[in-house]
Amino acid sequence: MTNYKTLFFVFALFIGWTVNAQVNEMFIDIQKPGAVIQPTMYGLFFEDINYAADGGLYAELVKNRSFEFPQNLMGWQTFGKVTLLDDGPFDRNPHYIRLSDPGHPHKRTGIENEGYFGIGVKKGESYRFSVWARLPEGTDASRLRIELVKPNSNNEIHAFATQTLTIDSKEWKKYQLFLKPEITEAKSTLRIFLDSPHPVDLEHVSLFPTDTWQGHENGLRKDLAQALADIHPGAFRFPGGCIVEGTDLDTRYNWKNTIGLVENRPLNENRWNYTFPHRLYSDYYQSYGLGFYEFFLLSEEIGAEPLPVLSCGLACQFQNDKPEAHVPVQELNPYIQDALDLIEFANGDIHSTWGAIRAEMGHPAPFNLKLIAIGNEQWGPEYPEHLEPFVKAIRKAHPEIRIIGSSGPDSEGKQFEYLWPEMKRLKVDLVDEHFYRPETWFLSQGARYDNYDRKGPAVFAGEYACHGKGKKWNHFYTSLLEAAFMTGLERNADIVQIATYAPLFAHVEGWQWRPDMIWFDNLSSVRTVSYYVQQLFSHNKGSNVLPLTMNQKPVTGAEGQNGLFASAAWEKKDNTIIVKVVNTSDKTQSVSLNFSGLKKKESLSAGRVIQLHSTDLDKDNTLEQPSAIVPQESAVTINGNVFKAELEPYTLAIYTFKLN
Ligand code: AHR
Repeated sequence: MTNYKTLFFVFALFIGWTVNAQVNEMFIDIQKPGAVIQPTMYGLFFEDINYAADGGLYAELVKNRSFEFPQNLMGWQTFGKVTLLDDGPFDRNPHYIRLSDPGHPHKRTGIENEGYFGIGVKKGESYRFSVWARLPEGTDASRLRIELVKPNSNNEIHAFATQTLTIDSKEWKKYQLFLKPEITEAKSTLRIFLDSPHPVDLEHVSLFPTDTWQGHENGLRKDLAQALADIHPGAFRFPGGCIVEGTDLDTRYNWKNTIGLVENRPLNENRWNYTFPHRLYSDYYQSYGLGFYEFFLLSEEIGAEPLPVLSCGLACQFQNDKPEAHVPVQELNPYIQDALDLIEFANGDIHSTWGAIRAEMGHPAPFNLKLIAIGNEQWGPEYPEHLEPFVKAIRKAHPEIRIIGSSGPDSEGKQFEYLWPEMKRLKVDLVDEHFYRPETWFLSQGARYDNYDRKGPAVFAGEYACHGKGKKWNHFYTSLLEAAFMTGLERNADIVQIATYAPLFAHVEGWQWRPDMIWFDNLSSVRTVSYYVQQLFSHNKGSNVLPLTMNQKPVTGAEGQNGLFASAAWEKKDNTIIVKVVNTSDKTQSVSLNFSGLKKKESLSAGRVIQLHSTDLDKDNTLEQPSAIVPQESAVTINGNVFKAELEPYTLAIYTFKLN
């Protein structure tokens, strides 16, 4: 034993680690780079669950801005003389309100919006208030007072941003002004009241931070969009999830309702409003302000391939098995047309019907759509029956588009066994697999894809996360197991072409599903350990797989492999060798990376290691402690072609070496 090793063992004993004396000898052959790791490999899954869109990524701060919730004044308090009317300027959102003189100079008429768990605003920033308004009676002008208010410590209402707005037209017109809060407040209220005796009609009341992601007016919350961009995702799946299917066909996600003038996008319910009775959010709706145009734009801006998922004409099979929840196959044409039209909306030239709409919305250049998924978690013979006509029509009109089919809601079992051969029969390009599974599953699936049929469709691991048994919330250990499992995705990059952790976002006060990748409140957000796992894999992806073995076998956490998982890759752009090793055991593991296949004048140098490690397996980052567990990077030294490391228990380590 070298002096260094003796010292290490003494140190390890001192701090209470157990050390596995056996050296885990891994061999990496860099001579023949193998399968291409697709640029799409590590992507993102977006669904409006946990207030991910309205109340989250979509930066609108006013809830029920068009008065179209089934209870039209939900989210609003009214005082004085307020009337609800329904012959407004936007035919798909016809409701609006009238503020009238309460009949005494000291009395007031107005409305207050509670936002999403309050309205979060920051001192010194600017907020764009806008409203459609008109004067319903013969007068030249009327005045409104617009305020952000909060209860102060004495429980008096304190207005901390105030502006006056003059309404000067009998015709509907859009007005806007900017509010600059004097304080930072997570739970303020937007108050609008009549400041002169003449009545005013109001529709589509909106408040956005001016500083949105990329400065778009109908924009996204900057910190949340930035977190997505910082992953460098290869693909962006939208809009879900179950939300695609709807509890019934009428409430399915219909992309055509989500484009065009924001004011006229019709409201839809959000199924996560009522899916779990113990987490009932009766005010959760989809405004569609964040719609398909915005999804395509965001994909482009974060450098990800857009991956839309469309309804196949089957409503959510978990929630609705009534005959009317299935479109008869012979009546599927409108649904198929929706898919064809979507391809035209994304890629068609500006003279095509849908390409012209895209251009009018501000994007004449195509979005370069290459992937489309039909159906989410469908099952039974009805799914392939429904999918087949879509495949035929899309292949005929757009042979360039790759089609994704589903293997159902489970990672194995009856439906999965039935659907995979069906997807092969239909010759889809990729099959979407979903697995929200416990620790034991993730530990046992390191070799999941090693023996998949290489002649059939590729795999899109479209929704996955490790759900701790009895601990269904974010914590370090489950994220570590996701990393372990992901080495198996990477080793099989010839067949696994896209993988997206799910779900993406959750509001701390409005979640329905845990764990999630990014948590937020009204003012700030936190990147979980699972986020960092995704980011580290994405940033250190490599362009080609390299063979890595231990005792001539891949390192998959199998019996005798000491809880180790590993993969290796070569990045051609900067000639780097990347080795990912995950130690899921409770022991320090001695690891030796033996590189072979170097040409005569080649050598390895400039070693770095990035590690993600925690001694507390139940811990994660929180809004209060956002950097509790973050990647740590340092230099390492390689001696010739062999690198030796002592890998602490429960650690993801990514080693990179420059190939000179
Ligand atoms: O990610 C949450 C949900 O899990 C998705 O909507 C659905 O596809 C899956 O069951």
